[in-house]
Amino acid sequence: MKFGIIGAGNVGATIAHILLFKNYGDIYLLDIAEDIAKGKAIDLNQSKFLFNSEYSVKGGNDYLEIKDADFIIITAGLARKPGMSRDDLLFKNFEILKDICIKIKEFKKEPFIIVVSNPLDIMAYTAYKILGFSKSKILGMAGVLDSYRFMHFIQNTFETKTTKIEAMTLGSHGDTMVPLTSKVRVDGELLISKILPEKIKEIEEKTKNGGAEIVNLLKSGSAYYAPAAAVVRMIDAIVNDENIVLPCSVYAEGEYGINDIFIGLPALLNKNGFERVEILDISQDEKNKLLNSANSIKEQINKINNKI
Ligand code: LAC
Repeated sequence: MKFGIIGAGNVGATIAHILLFKNYGDIYLLDIAEDIAKGKAIDLNQSKFLFNSEYSVKGGNDYLEIKDADFIIITAGLARKPGMSRDDLLFKNFEILKDICIKIKEFKKEPFIIVVSNPLDIMAYTAYKILGFSKSKILGMAGVLDSYRFMHFIQNTFETKTTKIEAMTLGSHGDTMVPLTSKVRVDGELLISKILPEKIKEIEEKTKNGGAEIVNLLKSGSAYYAPAAAVVRMIDAIVNDENIVLPCSVYAEGEYGINDIFIGLPALLNKNGFERVEILDISQDEKNKLLNSANSIKEQINKINNKI
């Protein structure tokens, strides 16, 4: 297989590193800052002896190098600075995404596209509309990351084993994110039966602020280890034809009462990519929050829709 990673920043390079470790295929790290992409590719290549990988990483700014890629992961764009919301990046990253998608469209091939750039749901929608690919091929990475953060804060509360927590977030990768508290299980038991509502609220708030907490501590740049891990989790599900439900930003066509936007929903992933949305039995409160989240995404989309 071949992977094209657009954006050789920390997220892109960390995805490359994990993919190399997984031994899935060759990787091309593409960045307008050509030398940075080249330098990181050399460094990554020199790490492969630890993993006994037979694949190589190349770097540069040449789109022709990824014309036959099976996966293209788009991480390019500005990252948040302390005090900024993901929505503050809208117009700049929209132009960057648009430009990238116009170039990918010229390949006349439909690779799987995983969008990571923010504001995530709007950027995934932009990619879908500009590329014109089947909706099964275009996924936004957010729900897996937000679920990992949700699980992290649950683990900090219960000191339970990593493998004993089941939790998922839906909705936007932003302030209206919807941690699905009613479905969380810890050691097989429902979380809502184990702790007080105030404590649950606290975990939900920490989850929503999970990205900003890291941005504030780093002072420049945003998180990358967990975002990269989440991207690779989605790639795993597709490459290994797992038929597993993971929360991903996907194109909604009526599911949960939501239409014509990208939003975090439980998506069944297999070798075809995004097969369908799974309808979970969530609480009325969670349904309302999901619709509210859809409305906030729609408002953002309306700001760029006439530029697509
Ligand atoms: C974050 C970025 C990837 O949440 O959106 O850290």
